[in-house]
Amino acid sequence: MKKNIPFFLIIILLINCKESTKQSESIASEVVESERNSTWWKEGVLYQIYPQSFKDTDGDGFGDFRGVIEKLDYLESLGITMVWMNPFFESPLVDNGYDISDYRAIHPRYGTMEDFQEMLDGMKSRGIKFVLDVVVNHSSDEHEWFQSARSSRDSEYRDYYHWWPAEKGKPPHRHSLFDPEGGWDYVEETDSYYLHTFAEAQPDLNWENPKLRQEVYDIMKFWAEKGVDGFRMDAFQFASKDTTYPEFPEGHEKDFVKWYGMRPQLHEYLKEMYKEVIEPYNVFAVAEGAGSTFKDAHDLVDADRNELQTAYHFEYVDMSRTPERYELSEFKEVFTLWDKEFSENGWLAIFLSNHDNSRLVDRFGNPSPEFRTVSTQMLNTFLLSMRGTPYTYYGDELGMTNIDMPTIEEYVDIDAIGKYKTALAANEDVEEFMKVLNYSSRENSRTPMQWNDTDNAGFTSGMPWKKVNPNYKEINVAAQENNPNSVLNHFRKMVKLRKENEVLVYGDYQIIQQEHPEIYAYTRTLDNQKMLVLLNFTDQDSNISLPEVNSLNNTLINNYEALTINNNTITLKPYQAAIVSIKK
Ligand code: GLC
Repeated sequence: MKKNIPFFLIIILLINCKESTKQSESIASEVVESERNSTWWKEGVLYQIYPQSFKDTDGDGFGDFRGVIEKLDYLESLGITMVWMNPFFESPLVDNGYDISDYRAIHPRYGTMEDFQEMLDGMKSRGIKFVLDVVVNHSSDEHEWFQSARSSRDSEYRDYYHWWPAEKGKPPHRHSLFDPEGGWDYVEETDSYYLHTFAEAQPDLNWENPKLRQEVYDIMKFWAEKGVDGFRMDAFQFASKDTTYPEFPEGHEKDFVKWYGMRPQLHEYLKEMYKEVIEPYNVFAVAEGAGSTFKDAHDLVDADRNELQTAYHFEYVDMSRTPERYELSEFKEVFTLWDKEFSENGWLAIFLSNHDNSRLVDRFGNPSPEFRTVSTQMLNTFLLSMRGTPYTYYGDELGMTNIDMPTIEEYVDIDAIGKYKTALAANEDVEEFMKVLNYSSRENSRTPMQWNDTDNAGFTSGMPWKKVNPNYKEINVAAQENNPNSVLNHFRKMVKLRKENEVLVYGDYQIIQQEHPEIYAYTRTLDNQKMLVLLNFTDQDSNISLPEVNSLNNTLINNYEALTINNNTITLKPYQAAIVSIKK
């Protein structure tokens, strides 16, 4: 695709960085609000904070609420409008807080309830909404409910969990996501097995029990009354199971959700939750996972269902779980299909990385020093110009990368260790396994935030709970703050553009030249506003011929100085990302 274009033929469309056309203001009145079902959570830009890795203020090596308070101005400067924070509740921390032993108490590592309230108020005064992680597919085995339930078959909490009495023989096989030995564990005191979809220390809660459900709604109300604006429902697809515990056919692990979750009753429970919590408190809820089919996803989030408001699916994350390069054609196809499916009804979240995946630039871009900046900018342009609420994971606004951890001894994550044990038991090639783990493990995205080039990247004055990525000297907030071409400032520009142009939120999405092997191009159109998004996903120059060239207007975003146009052909530099408004 690389061509030498004679200089005299090149017309350079210089950046017209007025930042925004602000056309949205003029069109807003023309469109009936309700047609779009406009809401703040559709228009928002969400930033995810993994609290133990964000900013430590007391020197214990773990991030804390006061650290977030210290960085509130930074959050505001990003322009983001929502924060989702991973769990910070009382917990034995077997799965870094996704094993909760008291849903109303804060783990002392993070601070006090007063600190929480100050952090929340600080966000609110800056126009930032707060989304709480609700982990109620399971509790910790140290939760008082489970402690009581395991000790007696007559416990009032017994039916808060799933049990299989040993006198019925061995329970039917269930796969566990974290435990190589399977999803049931034996408890001697009551001679029975309990079910856990994740680790042994994370017993599944029994959603079929109305008392349990009421407990959950009460917990949600407790936090809603403190002022949180939304809930992220962790692992929620698994909440409702077939409690007749049938034998499932072998080999269904890959289709885990279909077999182990998404029972029809889940919808009844969600409607109940909607009535009890979501509607009266005017909050929103997003589900982790969206079932196995488009219908599942619609049934969860369509407005007329009165269940959840939005969900995120894993299809594009699943395509990059190994170091083998994903196919751009597949990437385009997945996003285009999901967009089409939800163009009329329902709303989804869009994300490219989070605390369960490795870093965005390693998975979908190019982390080499030469292309790290431009490729992260290109991916952030994509994320912030698609329909669906964009979720940015802390550090991706800087281009933070994976960390190299070649040996298993360095790993602390229960998921990584479980997978390692499974690989050993299956006699897999350990060297090969470690290569994949090093690339894909969740440890990659949990390294401390890189604030500056002082010791430990300015994250802590103590010993960080997790090794800081050695590249912090080059990749950090301070180094990027005053550079107009940094990943950070590009991110800010993109957030601003999205917030000022409803076309990027609600506009119709049309892919252009889907078969193009290197460039992902699409338009977003709303009433009289149209934008063209051009993204080069490769480390080479790449050309695209477009009839629209004659109607190009202002270049609103560009991670290079110029956009090169020769007659009808646009040449994009490696990982170039541009958004151009189009005359209609
Ligand atoms: C979700 C969380 C993940 C956690 C798991 C068990 O998938 O995102 O981090 O380990 O649930 O709670």
